[in-house]
Amino acid sequence: MTIDINRVGIIGAGQMGSGIAQVCAAAGLDVRLNDREADRIEAGLGAIEASLAKLVTKGSLEEAASRSARERIQPARSFADLGDCDLVIEAATENEAVKREIFSTLCASLKPDAVLATNTSSISITRLAAATDRPERFIGIHFMNPVPVMQLVELIRGIATEDQTYEAAKAFIGKLGKTSTMSEDFPAFIVNRILLPMINEAIYTLYEGVGSVESIDTAMRLGANHPMGPLQLADFIGLDTCLSVMQVLYDGLADSKYRPCPLLVKYVEAGWLGRKTKRGFYDYRGPTPVPTR
Ligand SMILES: NC(=O)c1ccc[n+]([C@@H]2O[C@H](COP(=O)([O-])OP(=O)(O)OC[C@H]3O[C@@H](n4cnc5c(N)ncnc54)[C@H](O)[C@@H]3O)[C@@H](O)[C@H]2O)c1
Repeated sequence: MTIDINRVGIIGAGQMGSGIAQVCAAAGLDVRLNDREADRIEAGLGAIEASLAKLVTKGSLEEAASRSARERIQPARSFADLGDCDLVIEAATENEAVKREIFSTLCASLKPDAVLATNTSSISITRLAAATDRPERFIGIHFMNPVPVMQLVELIRGIATEDQTYEAAKAFIGKLGKTSTMSEDFPAFIVNRILLPMINEAIYTLYEGVGSVESIDTAMRLGANHPMGPLQLADFIGLDTCLSVMQVLYDGLADSKYRPCPLLVKYVEAGWLGRKTKRGFYDYRGPTPVPTR
């Protein structure tokens, strides 16, 4: 039996949740957007409207399509409003206790056959599935940031995830016009398992004085054809997030090759978290980014 997904519930209306809501609605699906804070739902809806308007201005979306996408998104003031969803994606704060609490109260409100997913970037899918009443219908659906722009979605199977659930998630991502990859449930999955050690190594390269911020980024842009240098990318992701993913790899795989660079720890301790705090490997307070080392 195939599972048809027409109505999607989203928990967490932050940067990821609102991006997911937007791409689902633009693909013709009905969306229910929930958040613990009512004003976050309003802010999320505002961000979606602004993002849709930008696409219309750029000529990549018709005005009418933008309007109907917006109309397909309804706020869900409580979990009871998610009772008619075929799929619910949790995109709340990256904190295991917060996510476990959501699942333990949410399940009673869901249709018995609804698929449940998490957008976590690092927490074990198998462990989160165990906090639900449906580990076989639970899966990791890991969107990339910014959701409307990035083509890839990683699907992560927990130990109990059934084939039917995986097939439904894969078809859903296809409906969004995106490409999925499948990975088993091990720390940081595929993209972050490969990307973050590369970024961490770039920080070691800086720490050991092999090159300056500018030399390292230029070397990787022009020498490896990367669209962004690794330190520029680290600032974009957020240095606290980079550190937390390295910590998940280090703890979860117990291999010293994943040890976070002390210089990364120092930047995070200083509150220099990258673009979001206006300072990281570059200083963003002026008209053009200036390397901080
Ligand atoms: N930011 C990224 O680059 C990125 C990329 C991929 C995946 N993710 C993952 O997506 C998830 C969300 O990240 P984000 O960047 O959108 O965070 P965010 O801080 O922008 O948004 C999180 C939202 O969750 C809400 N929330 C917290 N507890 C809640 C609860 N109990 N019930 C309902 N809503 C609740 C908050 O009010 C907030 O609006 C995390 O698991 C993160 O790891 C983030």
